[in-house]
Amino acid sequence: MAAPRLELRRVSKTYSNSGEPVPVLHDISLTLAPGDLVALVGRSGCGKTTMLNLAGAMDLPTSGEVLIDGRATSSCSEADLTALRRRRIGFVFQFFQLLPTLTVLENVELPLLLAGQRHSFKAALDRLAWVGLEEKRSAMPYQLSGGQMQRVAIARALVHSPDLLLADEPTGNLDTTSGNRVLDLLRESAVRFGATVLLATHSTEAAAFADRRLHLRDGRIYSID
Ligand SMILES: Nc1ncnc2c1ncn2[C@@H]1O[C@H](COP(=O)(O)OP(=O)(O)O)[C@@H](O)[C@H]1O
Ligand SMILES: [Mg+2]
Repeated sequence: MAAPRLELRRVSKTYSNSGEPVPVLHDISLTLAPGDLVALVGRSGCGKTTMLNLAGAMDLPTSGEVLIDGRATSSCSEADLTALRRRRIGFVFQFFQLLPTLTVLENVELPLLLAGQRHSFKAALDRLAWVGLEEKRSAMPYQLSGGQMQRVAIARALVHSPDLLLADEPTGNLDTTSGNRVLDLLRESAVRFGATVLLATHSTEAAAFADRRLHLRDGRIYSID
């Protein structure tokens, strides 16, 4: 049987703040399969971003293991982790994080250029068309609405067809209509590109949109529905 897309095995994370331990996540275990759209729900400060950073190989657990396609991130070299992030993982953020000096199309193309891939222009245009913004290709980010910026950010996150799409409060800064459009695109990412989507949110509407909800409180998953 194929390994799950993402697996957390008894993961804990403790930060250090001027030498003082700050425990954030305790003994988290979960398994996500291809095409899953799962919401990570909980109040601000409960550890959602920390968990996404561990799932996206941006950070390593203090104990336990994070396995991406069966491979433990803590046994990867720095170079392996960089390659893993560039090839298999896409990130979407609350404040979009588009580069202001690049055009819309250049923003979408950038991950492919960084990964040294050819035919990046065509792939970027293709994803931009998918989010319905092909005609904005030469615009600068400041010329777009928040909802449009987030759609560009989703096109960028999916330009390399990642296995795992991690979205950190992606609708947190959007009106309801734009937010719903973003949620529809996350759903389509799972259906059309087979991405596994992990969505961190404190919005009950956004959480209701997922297949499953993991409720996080005081660094632990206390229920799944
Ligand atoms: N680099 C860090 N060093 C120390 N503490 C941190 C660090 N990052 C986050 N924290 C703390 O960890 C807790 C969880 O943060 P976070 O994962 O950002 O929560 P959420 O995304 O759910 O709001 C918070 O109390 C935060 O202050
Ligand atoms: Mg957060």
